[in-house]
Amino acid sequence: MSKMSKNKTVVLVEDDPIVTASLSERLTEAGYSVAGFASADQALQELASLVPQVIITDVRLPGTDGIDFLKQLKHLDESVSVIVMTAYATVSDAVAAMKLGAADYLPKPICVDELLVKIERLFETRQLRADRDRLQKDAERRFRLGNVIGHSKRMQEIFDVAEVVKDLDTTVLIQGSTGTGKELLARAIHFQSVRRALPFVPVSCVALSPQLLESELFGHERGAFTGAYRRKVGRFEAAASGTLFLDDVDDIPLELQTKLLRVLQERKLLRVGGEVEIDVQCRIICACKTDLQQLVEAGRFRSDLFFRMNVVRIELPPLAKRKEDLPLLVEHFVNHYAARQGKKPPKVDPEALHYLVQHDWPGNIRELENVIEASVAFCSAGRLSVAHLPPEITHRPPAQELFSLNLPGQGRVDLSELTNAVQGQVIRWALRLADGSQIKAAKLLNLPRTTLQSKMRKLGLGD
Ligand SMILES: Nc1ncnc2c1ncn2[C@@H]1O[C@H](COP(=O)(O)OP(=O)(O)OP(=O)(O)O)[C@@H](O)[C@H]1O
Ligand SMILES: [Mg+2]
Repeated sequence: MSKMSKNKTVVLVEDDPIVTASLSERLTEAGYSVAGFASADQALQELASLVPQVIITDVRLPGTDGIDFLKQLKHLDESVSVIVMTAYATVSDAVAAMKLGAADYLPKPICVDELLVKIERLFETRQLRADRDRLQKDAERRFRLGNVIGHSKRMQEIFDVAEVVKDLDTTVLIQGSTGTGKELLARAIHFQSVRRALPFVPVSCVALSPQLLESELFGHERGAFTGAYRRKVGRFEAAASGTLFLDDVDDIPLELQTKLLRVLQERKLLRVGGEVEIDVQCRIICACKTDLQQLVEAGRFRSDLFFRMNVVRIELPPLAKRKEDLPLLVEHFVNHYAARQGKKPPKVDPEALHYLVQHDWPGNIRELENVIEASVAFCSAGRLSVAHLPPEITHRPPAQELFSLNLPGQGRVDLSELTNAVQGQVIRWALRLADGSQIKAAKLLNLPRTTLQSKMRKLGLGD
C-alpha cells in the first residue's frame, strides 16, 4: 500500500451493490477513502461538501445517467478527474465520455488492478499539474505585481510588502524619484486588491494653489467662492470606498497640510463653503519624490501629517540601483511597443543591451520606456542594434570596451613594453573617437595637449 494514497478521496457511483462493495474494499485496502453512491443524483447532492478529486462512475444508472453526470461534474469543476465504467464495452459510450472530458474509461467487468493503476496515475497527474500551477504562480509573482515588473531583490521585497498591505485600509507612502513607477505601483496595489472594482482616483498636489487644491480634494458648494457656479464633488468623495492616490504630497502647501491632517485624523471632511460633514471611506496611497522626513526637519512638512502618511513606506529605488532588472524591463517594453506598432518583437543585440545597461537613467523607467519605444520604431529586420539607440545612450562607449587585458600563456611580461602598448591603444581609441582631433583626444584622456603629443612621438604614433 503506497503512503501516497493516504487522504485521497475517490467517489464511486455504481448501482450494483456487489460491484460497489468489492471495489470499495480494494480501494480502501489501497489506502483511498471511498465514498459510494447508488445514483448520480445522490452523488450530486453530496458532492459540494466532499470536494472529490477522482470520481468513478457507471454509465447505466437509475435517474441521471453516467454521461449526464459527467457533464454536470465538469460544469461544476472543470478540473475533476472522472473515470467512466462502460458496461458491455460499448464503444460509443466510451467515445462520448472522452469527448466530454472524462479522464479515462474502463470496460466492465472491471479489472481492479487496471483500475488501481489508472487511479494512481490520475492522482500523480493531478499532483504534477498542481505543482506546475504553483510554480507558474510563484514565477509570475517573482517577476511582477500587476504591471510592475522586476526581479531584483529590492523589487521582490516591495512586492512582498504590497502583497501584505493591499487589502488593508493602511495608508501607504511610496517614495521614489521621477519615473521610478510610483503611480504604477499604487495602481497595482489597488487593482490587485479587493477594491479592484471600486474607483482609483489619482490627484496630483503639484503646482496647484492652496485654494484650488483644497477644492479639488474636498469639493466645494455652489457659491463657495467667485466662480463656483455649481457644487463640485472632491476627489476624496469621488474615491468612495476605493483608493485615493495623493501624488506629489511633498508639494502640499503648509496651510493645506493642516486641513488635510484633520481629514485624515477624523476621516470626515467639509466641502469648501459647506456645512455638512462627509465621511471619508477611501484607502489612501501617497507618493512623494523627496524624503518627507527631511522636509519635516526643514520645517516644510508637518510632522504629524508625515506620521499619518508614513504608516507603511515603500521606497522605489532608482533604476541605476537595480540594473539587474534592466534586461527584463527591456524585453517587456520591446514586446509591448512592437505589439503597439504592429511589428514582430525585434531581437536586442547584446551590444545594444550593453549600452542600455551602462546608461545612468536619470529619468528612470520612464526614460527607458521612451528610449525603447523610439528604438523599436526605428529598428528593422527584426534586430534592435546600437544604431537604433538615441545618442544620449551611445555617446559614451561601453566601459569594458576601453581596454581588456588578455595575456594567455605568457610566462613573463615586460611591464613598460606592455604599458606602452596599452597607452598606444588607448590613444588611438581617443583619436578615433575625436575624429583625429588632438585637442579633443587630449580632453578625452584628461591630458594637456603637449603631453599627448610627446607621448604620441615617443610611441611612434601619427607624425
Ligand atoms: N517596474 C516597472 N515595470 C514596468 N513598467 C514600469 C515600471 N516602473 C515604471 N514603469 C513605467 O514607467 C513609466 C513611469 O512610471 P510612473 O508614472 O508610475 O512613475 P512615477 O514614479 O509616478 O513618476 P513621476 O514621479 O515622474 O510621476 C510608466 O509608463 C510606467 O508604466
Ligand atoms: Mg507619477
